[in-house]
Amino acid sequence: MSEACSIAHPNIALSKYWGKRPGGGNFPAVPSLSVTLAGLETRTRVRFDSSLQQDRIVLNGERADAGTEARTSELLDRVRRASGEERHAEVRTRNDFPTASGLASSASGFAALALAATRAAGLSWSASQVSDLARRSSASAARSLFDGFVELPAGPADLGEGGAHEDVVLSARSLAPAGHLALTVLVCVTTEARKAIGSSEGMRRTMAASPYAQAWVEEAPRIHARLRDALLARDFVAVGELAEASALAMHASAIAAGVIYWTGATLDALAAVRSLRAAGTQAFATVDAGPHVKVLARASEAARVRDAMRAAPGVERVIEARPGEGARLVDEVIT
Ligand code: DP6
Repeated sequence: MSEACSIAHPNIALSKYWGKRPGGGNFPAVPSLSVTLAGLETRTRVRFDSSLQQDRIVLNGERADAGTEARTSELLDRVRRASGEERHAEVRTRNDFPTASGLASSASGFAALALAATRAAGLSWSASQVSDLARRSSASAARSLFDGFVELPAGPADLGEGGAHEDVVLSARSLAPAGHLALTVLVCVTTEARKAIGSSEGMRRTMAASPYAQAWVEEAPRIHARLRDALLARDFVAVGELAEASALAMHASAIAAGVIYWTGATLDALAAVRSLRAAGTQAFATVDAGPHVKVLARASEAARVRDAMRAAPGVERVIEARPGEGARLVDEVIT
């Protein structure tokens, strides 16, 4: 078989990955815990084809930019080395949500790509092996392979300098199925524009220049461990409080290095979440490497929280998502 199609969903980190281990290989400096989201999706088709002179990447119907093409070919090269496949590939991929604007399109994008590319090259890899492959391109993508609530450990602390560390494996793992916690994630979209600083670059600048980088790397595993316990105990309020604390600590470390993803609309949306809490509705916010605010609500209170967030200044639309499935192969061909 030389063609395969896949679907993957973005995931939202409740405890955030921000910062990499020094020495190369894209190993996170901190553990993270995410929820894979049904309701937003990436569909990808990979076809190895002897008539191609180079890899061809089509994203949302248009030829991808050089940076995306290079990152995609890097993953395809790993698949070619592992499988013996020598042909170039055509990758066609579509997101049904804004691309590269802090809505985690790289997570679903590389998860879908890793799954379709390994299968198209004839490899029968486990989800864990595919997760490790996706992690090398974008660490958050490692988590989108799995259903529900997912953990990606930090990379090993003792990596030597300067290597791709192809022999060191680090995969995400499922902690709890999608039905474990009756959670709704309201993605409050504040702009459809692409973000100015990609997350890899934002992390690099934070680690290099933030006076709080070390504080973040020390605090993140503690927040993570407490959040993991709260999740396993199905304690929605503790999960929400810790998720908000993780996001605020991550952004505080980034902001101190001049890496500012927030806009006025982000601050207004955060204020709207605090007002909801003051009025007795348990809602909590998280923010990734972009201006959007994702609100965690009990499924039973989602409609009220959605209406309040729609009314927040600067919120253009609200996408409602639930915990969902991991990446999977599908039959249908996309064009
Ligand atoms: C803020 O996975 O996009 O969304 O590994 O450099 O591709 P790279 O970074 P990426 O970073 C995601 C950062 C985050 C937090 C998270 O998803 O854990």
